[in-house]
Amino acid sequence: MTEAAPTPGSIGQQLKVLGAEVVLSLESVDDKTALEALRVEVLGKKGKLTKILRGLAGVAPEERPKIGHAANEVKAAVERAIEDKAKLLDQAERQARLDRPQLDVTLPAFGQPHGHLHPLAATMKEVCDTLCGLGFSIAEGPEVEDEYHNFEALNIPQNHPARDMQDTFFVDGGRVLRTHTSPVQIRAMESQQPPLMIIAPGAVYRHDDDVTHSPMFHQVEGLMVDRHVTFRHLKGVLTAFLHRLFGEDVSVRFRPSYFPFTEPSAEVDIACVICGGDGSGAAGACRVCKGTGWLEILGSGMVHPAVFEHVGYDPEVYTGFAFGIGVERVAMLKHGIDDIRLFFANDLRFIQQF
Ligand code: PHE
Repeated sequence: MTEAAPTPGSIGQQLKVLGAEVVLSLESVDDKTALEALRVEVLGKKGKLTKILRGLAGVAPEERPKIGHAANEVKAAVERAIEDKAKLLDQAERQARLDRPQLDVTLPAFGQPHGHLHPLAATMKEVCDTLCGLGFSIAEGPEVEDEYHNFEALNIPQNHPARDMQDTFFVDGGRVLRTHTSPVQIRAMESQQPPLMIIAPGAVYRHDDDVTHSPMFHQVEGLMVDRHVTFRHLKGVLTAFLHRLFGEDVSVRFRPSYFPFTEPSAEVDIACVICGGDGSGAAGACRVCKGTGWLEILGSGMVHPAVFEHVGYDPEVYTGFAFGIGVERVAMLKHGIDDIRLFFANDLRFIQQF
């Protein structure tokens, strides 16, 4: 059985059906991709229109122009319909874009979470910045120190009771974890000649552990050496320093004390930052200054001549003063913290409050 020869009528019919089909399909097309697929399906090289026109071969030659004409009309109509639909889709898309909520460039940007200095690092920086503002420069020394620099050269000979006072951690080979930053005084003087104005910030270690003592804590040492440096310089510099650190109104007092490496020596107090100096607290005596109204804040004194002898400075020519301040103590007083261990527990609930 061979296929029935196509008649012009049946081809014309097929073209009509195709045209109607396209109109129907276009109704459900709602994006450009689907529209392009439809175009290829109908007008493409292997599309439905081509397939229909293949039947033209079996049509009598005189009938062909008529069918060809009809085919061109259908093709043009389909192309137009697709083009119109494309325009409609473009328009709808533009409208949708306009209807979408607009970008508000005045809204605040999303914040980038960022860290901040640990309260001790911030206090250390404040202490150092203040002293640098008074003319000191920063010097450094090792935390694992030899006994000579930590004790001997500071006029603390072997068997001196002051060695017990310091609760030393001993390392092998006659070395210790430095018990204070004072050995940096020695190292600075060994390596340079007066005049000298240095501070030495850093960690120090003592075998001690309770609410106000940590086995590792921080000090900032200060040393000024020149001809004619007197106790008045010590008082003037330290008073200016403490006023900048705790406020211009805070009272400062110098109290006689003893350190092997300074003579005379003085401990320096400031009026209690908690009770304001009157010594009373909510339940009787102030908890922080224990009712005295004063807080010990640093140790100081005029450099002992024996120390100058050790570093080869002539004590007949040069004089100087030195001081040491505890950084944890300053941070505790500034922020009203009563347990030093909070600084080292790394509890973010604590640290994030600063
Ligand atoms: N080094 C002493 C201490 O740790 C402090 C101090 C330093 C005292 C300098 C006087 C002069 O307690």
